[in-house]
Amino acid sequence: MRTQIVIIGAGPAGLLLSQLLYQAGVENVVLEQRSRAYVEGRIRAGVLEQGTVEMLERAGVAARLHREGLIHRGVTLAINGELQEIDFDSLGVAANVTIYGQSEIVKDLIEAAVMRGQLPVFDATEVAIHDVESERPFVTHMKDGEPQRLECDFVAGCDGQHGVSRRCIPADVRRHLERIYPFGWLGIMAEVPPCHDEIVYASHERGFALAAMRSLTRSRCYIQVPTNEKIEDWPDERFWQEFATRIGPNTQRPIATAPSIEKSIAPLRSSVTEPMRHGRLFLAGDAAHIVPPTGAKGLNLAISDIRFLSEAFITFYRDGGTAVLDAYSSKALSRVWKAERFSWWLTTLLHRFPDADAFTRKMQIAELDYLRQSRAAQTALAENYVGLALD
Ligand code: FAD
Ligand code: PHB
Repeated sequence: MRTQIVIIGAGPAGLLLSQLLYQAGVENVVLEQRSRAYVEGRIRAGVLEQGTVEMLERAGVAARLHREGLIHRGVTLAINGELQEIDFDSLGVAANVTIYGQSEIVKDLIEAAVMRGQLPVFDATEVAIHDVESERPFVTHMKDGEPQRLECDFVAGCDGQHGVSRRCIPADVRRHLERIYPFGWLGIMAEVPPCHDEIVYASHERGFALAAMRSLTRSRCYIQVPTNEKIEDWPDERFWQEFATRIGPNTQRPIATAPSIEKSIAPLRSSVTEPMRHGRLFLAGDAAHIVPPTGAKGLNLAISDIRFLSEAFITFYRDGGTAVLDAYSSKALSRVWKAERFSWWLTTLLHRFPDADAFTRKMQIAELDYLRQSRAAQTALAENYVGLALD
């Protein structure tokens, strides 16, 4: 079989790319190793930048997002329980964020693929990419026990942090830069109204906590825990107690508790693979970079990569030149590194580091105090949080 572009991975990056290419008349096939139910059920991010919402609008998949998403015009910090609002409007940051779960975006994009009669190939195993340095790359995989081969012009590696695409860039060309943090996030989802109208990022002597939400009746709550923590050691009651201590008593509503409907621990790290292109292979999203979730940038970066990559492919098929494709890696990386910096900075500012000496801790406290007093510092946080420019 032959197509123009093979997309590996049916996460938000791969699905959005497929939809945008389809709209522009560019043929593509998405290969996904998991089942449809698995990718639709995977709970991850929940904060969308305005540029992300605009891309979903462009793809024609934003109707439910506009009906069900919550618009937030600010974010709240809780420093040892004392609340501080970062209000975008009053800081002159003319943008907002939308609260809408990544799993809902994935469902909307798969629904759009159903409507156009072009579902991803789910349960595609042993995906392997071949000959990306040649003019005629191809991708092989197994489906229902049968070997398959897809010839194409380009391969888009949208297969997340554990995918195969990144490893197709030879070791002497690929650069992998990484920072591992000495803690993870224990997160739960529960059917309770959020304790505050905005998302609360809490820095407390006992560690970081985050009060987020998916709707007016569903909360998503996290606490910082040591890297080697076991989930069995965190029954719901213990979680809620620790969470309430770190968020403090000053939120708009008392913290309501309920049994968790999901509970997991995610390690935190920052990483970037450069370049994001090798021959006819292009990487996008988590396949190329990971951010700690503190700035809510992971999903948004995946979508901005796809904005650049879809425009590059569409320009190539329309006009024939490769200039925009050639510029993709450096254009995407320039935005990626700024989001890496913001996520690293906010993580470093708000978490307790087990190995921090007294001086480091004093620096953290001084910076939090500066942020409380300085409009300039608050504006810098706000403009990064809502998302930096796309060009
Ligand atoms: P993914 O969503 O990872 O999609 C990649 C797809 O490729 C998957 O469906 C995978 O099954 C498929 N795949 C992998 N390997 C292969 C293969 N060999 N062959 C075929 N298919 C393959 N961000 C936030 O902003 N806030 C959060 O709270 C947050 N929580 C997160 C929690 C976890 C556990 C993880 C892993 C990430 C979280 N993120 C969060 C980050 C955010 O969800 C990601 O940045 C986003 O999913 C990136 O989208 P993507 O399409 O690039 O990758
Ligand atoms: C979430 O809603 O899951 C969420 C929100 C903000 C973050 C990270 C995760 O920074």
